[in-house]
Amino acid sequence: MAKEEKPIPYQSRILDTKGVAQRLDLRYLSKPNRFNDLRRKLTWIAPLVAAIACIPFLTGIGPLDKVFSNGPVSKSHAIFEQNCQLCHAQAFSKVADATCNQCHDGASHPAKMIDTGKPNREVRCATCHEEHRGSSELKIVANRNCTTCHASLKQSGTGIQLTNVVISAFKEGKHPNFPQPGLVDNRPLKLNHAIHMPKDAKTIRGMKLPMKCTECHTPSANLASGGLEPVTFDKNCMQCHKRELEFVLPGLAVEAAPAPHTKDALKIRQFILETYQNLAAANPSLTRRPLDRDMNPEPNAASWIAKATKMSEEYLFNHKCKYCHEYAAMDGSFPVIRKVNRIQGRYVESKPEGEPWLQRAEFSHRAHRALDCAGCHAQAKTSTKTSDVLVAGMKDCTACHGASGTQIDNCSTCHAYHNKSKEQDHDRRSLQQLIGKLFSIPSQGYY
Ligand code: HEC
Ligand code: HEC
Ligand code: HEC
Ligand code: HEC
Ligand code: HEC
Ligand code: HEC
Ligand code: HEC
Ligand code: HEC
Ligand code: HEC
Ligand code: HEC
Repeated sequence: MAKEEKPIPYQSRILDTKGVAQRLDLRYLSKPNRFNDLRRKLTWIAPLVAAIACIPFLTGIGPLDKVFSNGPVSKSHAIFEQNCQLCHAQAFSKVADATCNQCHDGASHPAKMIDTGKPNREVRCATCHEEHRGSSELKIVANRNCTTCHASLKQSGTGIQLTNVVISAFKEGKHPNFPQPGLVDNRPLKLNHAIHMPKDAKTIRGMKLPMKCTECHTPSANLASGGLEPVTFDKNCMQCHKRELEFVLPGLAVEAAPAPHTKDALKIRQFILETYQNLAAANPSLTRRPLDRDMNPEPNAASWIAKATKMSEEYLFNHKCKYCHEYAAMDGSFPVIRKVNRIQGRYVESKPEGEPWLQRAEFSHRAHRALDCAGCHAQAKTSTKTSDVLVAGMKDCTACHGASGTQIDNCSTCHAYHNKSKEQDHDRRSLQQLIGKLFSIPSQGYY
């Protein structure tokens, strides 16, 4: 069964002390050897190469600055990358804020609303804006630069007004939820989102439902508008709600164009008057029809027109505008319609342009245009009251921001750091000064 084992070679070696000693080469160190050769030559060649390499640097010819560089600079500064001295004003020392400030300032933080007046110069520009990191974006700043203070804000200053003083990451429990609790939606306009977006498709008097969000909230390329156009009656409601502007008294059974939707009630009165004048001219017998319950016809056409106008006005203003509006009071027969303001952002009565829902952070619909609206506004489709607050909360963001492991996790994606209103103008540089070398030696054939 088992074969007979042969002795393997090492067992035949001589293993006593003499045998081992004979295996060592006693001339090892003096024998010519390729590595030793190379080492000897390198002792001379290396300093020689170094010395030659220094010549252009010492004499100032050739773009050899790169040899000493730490890696490419950021995209925005790449244009003057070769002009090291623009940033490295003093060799072998840190880049001082004053150097950056020659071209632009980082205006003081806290960013927008609050300004303590004290510049936060504890942190250097170059600490947050890391250079020589390749063609990265310089304004994407690592979180540690923010959490040094924000993880325990009480320690970084006195008179802190923020309520959330411990923020260490964009994660549940480590960053405050939003929108700020207590913000209300009190726009004096009746809007029932759900009625316009029923689950099952249906057609009411020729109106096709459900509507899409973007039929009322039109995406816009205008970044200043947050990426959405304001909602207006003419663009977004008129095509279906003309009926609410019809004023001709129902008993008359005649057709006429609806009133214009205008802020000027006098214009509406004028429109109604003209409509009845035209109707009467086209059909004189109309003016003999009784207008109210006592069934007496008006004495003449002029008084019929005056009465019809007044009654229509009351009918329109007392019933129809209320379909969407709240009245503050009545001014004679005109309602005083409460200001709706521009339908965008949060309603604030004293601010016709509205306010952003999020005051202390940036947001852009345009940057998220690939995402379904309901991804961030899940309740919108089922909301029946204007007062429902439908803006997105933190849970709508964390799947992508805070847990993606990419740059969009950073505080600086959503927060500005510099108070832009405090920015100052600095001495502007000519192209020549910025791009320097390329412009100074065009004769050498850079073009
Ligand atoms: C846009 C400004 C800018 C330009 C242009 C620039 N650097 Fe820098 N460099 C910096 C900043 C900022 C640092 C970080 C140093 C600090 O923290 O103060 C730095 C760091 C360095 C360092 C590391 C030394 C240290 O102090 O950390 C070297 C080496 C360096 N730069 C070489 C160069 C060379 C060579 C060039 C030209 C080819 C160049 N740099 C161009 C801004 C610049
Ligand atoms: C010689 C002028 C000059 C110096 C010095 C300089 N910059 Fe700039 N910086 C520019 C120019 C030009 C741009 C391009 C856009 C612009 O005009 O704002 C720019 C852009 C930037 C941006 C915006 C980058 C982006 O991604 O949008 C930041 C941040 C910045 N610089 C920070 C610094 C810091 C920090 C320093 C000091 C280490 C510095 N800069 C030094 C000229 C300069
Ligand atoms: C030197 C300390 C310090 C650093 C670093 C710092 N902050 Fe602040 N931050 C403050 C202080 C102080 C306030 C004001 C607190 C107050 O007045 O209640 C503030 C306020 C804020 C606010 C609210 C104010 C507003 O209206 O916008 C935001 C948002 C903010 N910081 C974000 C950041 C981000 C993002 C970074 C990193 C890029 C950062 N902070 C770095 C100290 C710092
Ligand atoms: C019929 C037109 C119409 C449609 C369709 C519509 N909206 Fe609105 N939406 C409005 C009007 C008008 C307002 C202002 C009234 C208000 O503040 O609620 C508004 C307000 C909002 C607000 C901010 C105010 C708040 O209540 O929080 C959000 C968010 C919003 N809509 C999201 C949506 C989303 C998401 C959809 C689609 C699922 C949608 N809307 C569809 C007309 C519409
Ligand atoms: C595509 C057609 C369409 C458009 C556009 C439209 N609506 Fe409507 N709206 C309807 C339909 C259908 C109803 C259901 C009421 C009905 O049966 O008459 C309705 C009902 C309403 C109601 C009554 C809600 C309730 O609770 O009874 C209000 C208020 C209203 N819409 C406001 C608006 C406003 C404001 C706009 C513009 C921002 C608008 N609608 C745009 C079709 C539309
Ligand atoms: C179907 C809903 C609807 C009806 C019905 C309606 N409106 Fe409006 N109205 C709106 C919307 C939406 C706005 C705000 C957007 C805009 O300015 O176009 C508005 C704005 C206004 C404003 C401006 C308010 C401000 O903030 O300054 C006035 C005034 C006004 N309407 C008057 C009327 C009058 C008068 C009637 C009746 C004849 C009427 N509306 C009927 C939807 C309606
Ligand atoms: C990535 C999340 C996200 C998506 C997707 C999103 N929103 Fe928003 N939306 C927000 C946030 C956050 C705010 C509060 C922004 C502010 O106050 O500046 C907001 C505010 C709004 C407002 C009220 C403020 C305004 O500008 O009028 C409306 C209306 C609105 N969104 C509609 C929509 C519609 C319609 C869509 C789809 C086309 C949509 N949103 C997609 C997050 C989102
Ligand atoms: C589906 C993933 C996703 C969700 C959910 C999401 N974001 Fe974003 N967000 C992104 C991506 C991707 C970018 C980078 C877009 C770019 O650079 O064009 C971005 C960019 C941003 C920016 C920078 C905008 C700009 O103009 O560069 C802000 C601010 C922001 N998101 C805030 C939010 C907030 C607040 C929420 C939650 C209400 C949210 N995001 C939800 C994926 C998402
Ligand atoms: C995806 C976007 C996003 C990211 C990432 C993010 N935040 Fe915020 N942050 C917000 C929003 C939205 C608010 C609410 C703003 C409001 O309601 O006005 C907020 C609020 C704040 C506030 C104000 C707190 C208060 O008391 O009002 C501070 C400070 C702050 N964030 C710091 C940070 C810091 C530090 C980081 C990084 C660790 C960070 N945020 C990351 C979106 C973001
Ligand atoms: C605590 C970190 C921090 C410090 C310190 C800091 N920055 Fe910034 N900086 C940021 C962030 C975050 C942004 C992007 C958001 C913004 O624009 O506020 C930014 C943006 C900028 C921009 C681009 C602004 C734009 O409009 O695109 C310039 C330029 C800039 N910083 C210059 C400076 C200069 C100069 C200094 C030193 C005086 C400085 N920064 C100090 C965090 C910092």
